[in-house]
Amino acid sequence: MRRFTLPREVYHGEGALEALKAFAGKRAMICIGGSSMRRAGILDKATAYLEEAGMKVEVFDGIEPDPSVETVMKGGDAMLAFKPDWIIAIGGGSPIDAAKAMWIRYEYPDLTFEDMCKVFGLPKLRKKAKFCAISSTSGTATEVTAFSVITDYARGIKYPIADFEITPDVAIVDPELVASMPQKLIAHTGMDAMTHAVEAYVSTANCDYTDPLSLHAVKMIQTHLVDSYNGDMNSRASMHNAQCLAGMAFSNALLGIVHSMAHKTGAAFDEYGAHIIHGAANAMYLPKVIAYNAKDETAKKRYGVIADSMNLGGATDDEKIQALIKYLRKMNDELNIPHCIRHYGKDSYPVETGFVPEDVFLAKLPSIATHAIADACTGSNPRQPNQEEMEKLLRCVYYDTEVDF
Ligand SMILES: [Fe+2]
Repeated sequence: MRRFTLPREVYHGEGALEALKAFAGKRAMICIGGSSMRRAGILDKATAYLEEAGMKVEVFDGIEPDPSVETVMKGGDAMLAFKPDWIIAIGGGSPIDAAKAMWIRYEYPDLTFEDMCKVFGLPKLRKKAKFCAISSTSGTATEVTAFSVITDYARGIKYPIADFEITPDVAIVDPELVASMPQKLIAHTGMDAMTHAVEAYVSTANCDYTDPLSLHAVKMIQTHLVDSYNGDMNSRASMHNAQCLAGMAFSNALLGIVHSMAHKTGAAFDEYGAHIIHGAANAMYLPKVIAYNAKDETAKKRYGVIADSMNLGGATDDEKIQALIKYLRKMNDELNIPHCIRHYGKDSYPVETGFVPEDVFLAKLPSIATHAIADACTGSNPRQPNQEEMEKLLRCVYYDTEVDF
């Protein structure tokens, strides 16, 4: 038996935020990050709509990027005091992810953080509150997924929480919230969404319910990402929907080793002054992983279907895969994303000498490879790399060399 879970309602398109006016409840707690939602007037609007619905509203703000276990516990305790029957999370991935974990704390105050992290092991939520997620970036799609990532800073580890219990009840996908997204964020989150769609389509957990979502998301991202990056607002609105469709796909079909590698390289070179931003890492690694996974016959055929749906031409699956890789690399060029870590600058733009020194990369390579293999996303990848293969792949994404194994 398989399960396919999505939010019960997705309000989308211009004016979708107004859906809050029709929510039924007594108390709503709005969870937000820094001040951007306040500045953009979104917080005021959301508060006014909820008050119009007859609710008392309290705001929990200041949720940091890469939210901590402490923030989760603090937010959960604020909910225990205020007793909301709606939790409304507004923002990028971080505030929504944090609010999901706060929700668990609110419903089950005795659960430890370790208990929360047991994969698909959560007790039933919704005994106290329902959850609405409103996204202000177009990429992580946490507004529709069963995942949340919380950082334990004491141990220096990011922990994923994964359970359909935390799939929101309501998602609001309103293009007004992404109208002023910075260009770099559009590029990175857009390629993150492309990676979600492609990885979900070739994942070993794909199914008839996720395939149409993945393929349609790929086509929409092909059509709209670069135009959105260049300022076209209709394309920006389409990208907001496309990333959400990709999220629906991967929440149910899971991901693959592009994400495993991005997770483990992201903060590995912090001491040299920068992160390899998640979406940029995915954008650089995806073409290499396609070449590696295509040695699996089923994955090869599926990449061929993706290339066909993008109208990339090619008579054989091998030709189609080459065309797909070429196309994705062209997108990276158009979005000012480098092709490999060696050329990845501190500010994420392509440079001759990137911020990760070669000797440091090679020294850390074995342990990064070990951690990438152990990442939660590796299990659903079409090929299971061993230590040697993962090290070779990581070399290819450092030097931008051909994958021939
Ligand atoms: Fe991602």
